[in-house]
Order: sequence, then C-alpha cells, then structure tokens
Amino acid sequence: MKKIFLPILAAVCMIGLTACGNTDSADNSAASASAVKGAAEQSVQAEESAENTEKEQPADDAAVTEKTEEQSAADDAETDTGNDTIVVYFSATGTTKGVAERIASAENADIFELIPAEPYTEADLDWNDSNSRTTLEMNDPDVRPAIANDTVDLEGYETVYIGYPIWWGDAPRMMSTFVEAHDFDSKTVIPFCTSGGSGIGRSGKNLASQAGSGNWLAGGRLDANISELELQDWINGMK
Ligand SMILES: Cc1cc2nc3c(=O)[nH]c(=O)nc-3n(C[C@H](O)[C@H](O)[C@H](O)COP(=O)(O)O)c2cc1C
Repeated sequence: MKKIFLPILAAVCMIGLTACGNTDSADNSAASASAVKGAAEQSVQAEESAENTEKEQPADDAAVTEKTEEQSAADDAETDTGNDTIVVYFSATGTTKGVAERIASAENADIFELIPAEPYTEADLDWNDSNSRTTLEMNDPDVRPAIANDTVDLEGYETVYIGYPIWWGDAPRMMSTFVEAHDFDSKTVIPFCTSGGSGIGRSGKNLASQAGSGNWLAGGRLDANISELELQDWINGMK
C-alpha cells in the first residue's frame, strides 16, 4: 500500500507545485486539474489492482474455511438455548405479540416472531373493505403470503406454541405458509390466538391439517388482558 501511495503522492505534489507556479494561466490550471484527476484515478486503479491481487491470494483459503466453521459453531451455540419449548407467532398490530411474550415468559421458552415479507398496512387490515389485501387473502384459501424471516429451526423443541390473530374466523394465510414449511413430527403443537371476540374456531385444526405432522392440541383464544393466574391455568391445562 505504502509502495503504491508514495509515488502517487509525489506525483500529486509535483502537479500541485506546477499549478501554483502558473497561476496566470487558465489553461494550465485546467490541465493541472485534469492531471490531478488523472493521478487520483491512477491511485484508485492502483489500489483496486492491489486489492484484487490480495483477493487472488489463495494461501489463506483453508484458514478462512476453518474460521467459518468455528464461527458457525459459535453461532449455533448462541441460538441453541437448550429450551424444549418455543413460541412462534405473527402479530399485525401487537396484541398477539403481547400474549406470546407472556406465554414465553411463563414457560421460560424461546420466542420467535414471524414477519411478513410484505408488511400489512392499515389499509391492508381494513376488514370493511371488500378489496383490502386481508379480505382478498382470506377469501382465497390457497394464498400463501411470504414470510420475511422464517429462519426458525424447530429441531430440538418438544413443544411449539403457535400464535396469531383471528382474521375472518381463521388464522392469517401466512400461518399456513409457516406450518407447511416445517416438520412438526413428534412435537406437541399448541395453537393460540387473540381476536375481537371470536374463539379459535377451526383455525387450529386447519393449520394442523396443512402441517400434516405433529400432535396438535386444541389450544384456544387468549384475551389480551388475561391475568397471570388465568394464563398459568390455561398453560397448565395444555399439559
Ligand atoms: C382483517 C381482519 C379480520 C379480523 N377478523 C376477526 C374475526 O373474524 N373475529 C374477531 O373476533 N376478530 C377479528 N379481527 C380482530 C383481530 O383478531 C384482533 O384485533 C387481534 O387481537 C389482532 O391481533 P394482532 O394485534 O396480534 O394483529 C380481525 C382483524 C383483522 C385485521
């Protein structure tokens, strides 16, 4: 780097001095400016070439692979909390999130929030609009909205709580996207929802059949303001 930079610095200084000595000539200034630009471009090119040369060095490939493996082992250790219970949920306006966090805290469980690839706007959530995104999605049982962050690995968990708001009496279609992408074999799955008043209805059974694996319990609807005692009773009733 120094080797490249010093000649370039010298060139730039020379050009700078020449420019100072010819202050009466506009042409010379322009030429000098262009020369400085040229020197700067050469400098960039030289740096790029040095970088490329560095990149081409194959010597440390093995070390890089080793580091990546070490790093991924460390990453695994960070995410592997040893918990056997996880709460996975989607919440468009925060109600289900609050309940999910309380279940996770009561169960000392891990928690994972599913984020839609395309977030739901207020207009999307307008159930009075027969053309809103949610109305259209809920009218079509085959729609599978994409999830932005479905990186959750369910391996190692025995119990999976799955939470969502009730939309038109059912789970949001994005929950179908989630359950169809995972294997719930040998896991106990507990669906729960929040709503304006409707019960969990068939939403849990629908998700169970879409998942095609797992021991799905009936689960239930939880009030946003459920007391600690009621919540604990509900959790105990699931066991
Ligand atoms: C598109 C849409 C449809 C809804 N449909 C119902 C429904 O059928 N029954 C009901 O009780 N509440 C319904 N709600 C209300 C939500 O279920 C309720 O506000 C829920 O607690 C929101 O949870 P969240 O804040 O986690 O998104 C609906 C809300 C939306 C946005």
